Amino acid sequence: MIGVTRGELIINDVSDIVVVRKTVRQAAASLNFSLSDITRIVTAASELARNVYLYAGSGKVVWQTIDDAGMTGIQLTFEDHGPGIRDLEKAMQEGWSTSGGLGLGLPGTRRLMDEMEIDTGGDNGTTIVIKKWRRRN
Ligand SMILES: Nc1ncnc2c1ncn2[C@@H]1O[C@H](COP(=O)(O)OP(=O)(O)OP(=O)(O)O)[C@@H](O)[C@H]1O
Ligand SMILES: [Mg+2]
Repeated sequence: MIGVTRGELIINDVSDIVVVRKTVRQAAASLNFSLSDITRIVTAASELARNVYLYAGSGKVVWQTIDDAGMTGIQLTFEDHGPGIRDLEKAMQEGWSTSGGLGLGLPGTRRLMDEMEIDTGGDNGTTIVIKKWRRRN
């Protein structure tokens, strides 16, 4: 049986990152992801939630179940109305950071997930959609 199909959380305090980790862990577990995939999904969610808090101050994450051609999966959408990512091409490379960080969050997230789409710049801040698929039982 499939568990939670959709939910969202506001990110506007550093403590919300812990709540995102916990909630995303439960959502992924309810979709019967393996323990290693749950860890990947939680790590990616943690990095993107941290970026929202650090660079935009606040935002939200929406998680939902997705289905496509015999596969089921989880999609997480991180949305903020901050300044946008200044140089997306560089931001996707390891080691590029505007905050003295390691610059590993975005490239790490790309590696851990199956799909990642980033819409940033303009007046709308940043929206990042990540997906992880698993075979339906
Ligand atoms: N939501 C966002 N809004 C604006 N800029 C962002 C956002 N997320 C990432 N960035 C920009 O992209 C850069 C790279 O992000 P990434 O998470 O890969 O590394 P980092 O946050 O600098 O360091 P790390 O995550 O390794 O601690 C950031 O330094 C920042 O300039
Ligand atoms: Mg980061």
